[in-house]
Amino acid sequence: MTDVIDRSPDFAPLAPALAVARTRADDAAHTLFYSDVVAGLSATPKALPCKYFYDERGSQLFEAIVRTPEYYPTRAEIEILTINAQEIAALVGPFAHLIEFGSGSSHKIRLLLKSMPELASYIAVDISQDYLTKATKMLSREFPDLPVVPLCADFTQPFALPRVARQGRRVGFFPGSTIGNFAPEEAASFLEQTARLLGSGGGMLVGVDLKKDSIVLEAAYNDRAGITAAFNRNLLQRINRELSANFDPEAFNHRAIYNAGEGRIEMYLGSRVEQSVHVGDRSFTFGRGESIHTENSYKYSLAEFHALTHSTGFTHGQVWIDRRRLFSLHYLVVR
Ligand code: AVI
Repeated sequence: MTDVIDRSPDFAPLAPALAVARTRADDAAHTLFYSDVVAGLSATPKALPCKYFYDERGSQLFEAIVRTPEYYPTRAEIEILTINAQEIAALVGPFAHLIEFGSGSSHKIRLLLKSMPELASYIAVDISQDYLTKATKMLSREFPDLPVVPLCADFTQPFALPRVARQGRRVGFFPGSTIGNFAPEEAASFLEQTARLLGSGGGMLVGVDLKKDSIVLEAAYNDRAGITAAFNRNLLQRINRELSANFDPEAFNHRAIYNAGEGRIEMYLGSRVEQSVHVGDRSFTFGRGESIHTENSYKYSLAEFHALTHSTGFTHGQVWIDRRRLFSLHYLVVR
């Protein structure tokens, strides 16, 4: 389990101690980043964890990806949330604590909060302290009667809820099909852990990208403006900056293909030439055409996602789909 720093308002008087804890957490995160990169580049085939895409530049590029004409999931999910906000609010119910996993800019939650005036609290969980602070300050201004609690934590690891949410009904919100970036067995164990956190009577809203024509899928990850390519290459820039490496990002091609057998988009960076790169004091060689596998994005039919949730402590409730049948939003209920 990683260290989790609870920076909810309950802990405000401990600020100096938290500053020390934050430095330690930053050091631990840096050490983990280095060891993940070394392990990934030493493996055959080479691979890097997609969670490292999201430094400041990566997060900006991701926000640009969701505005490209090819990347349909965000627009489809916003359509679902907008059209069904009242029905979703009725399921969440009054006086619940709404907990968003990986809240980022907290953009989508606004579509729901407008229909949930009686919510007990909104808890935004994100690994990026800077993003959290900005997003939750803005939300508090927009919804002055709603207790908004920022919680800096890696939501893929077990973490403690802030005191305010330890009593009452809890409902999770996990939009964007981020669940598709986990392997199915990781997705199932994340849901299991989340069912325990939410507790019996709780619920969970999960956005899940649907299986569809590979032409539509591949276009979404190979946008014509090259923003997804820049997002993919930014991972190498981040490694250069944070781990004293010397990647030439332009010496790598971006490639995204749909693997129908696995039901997932796979993203790669392919070496254009034979080359050697160092990361700190380690050196790695690349053959011409050799790839680093940087991301999987799993797509599910409704039946496949139901089967995945089967043994996780949830039963399925309602499912909403956009008009073009591209994306789904599931309401799961803790058994
Ligand atoms: C965050 N996640 C759901 C995105 C996806 O579609 O898998 C990440 C992404 N990668 C390339 N484009 C978008």
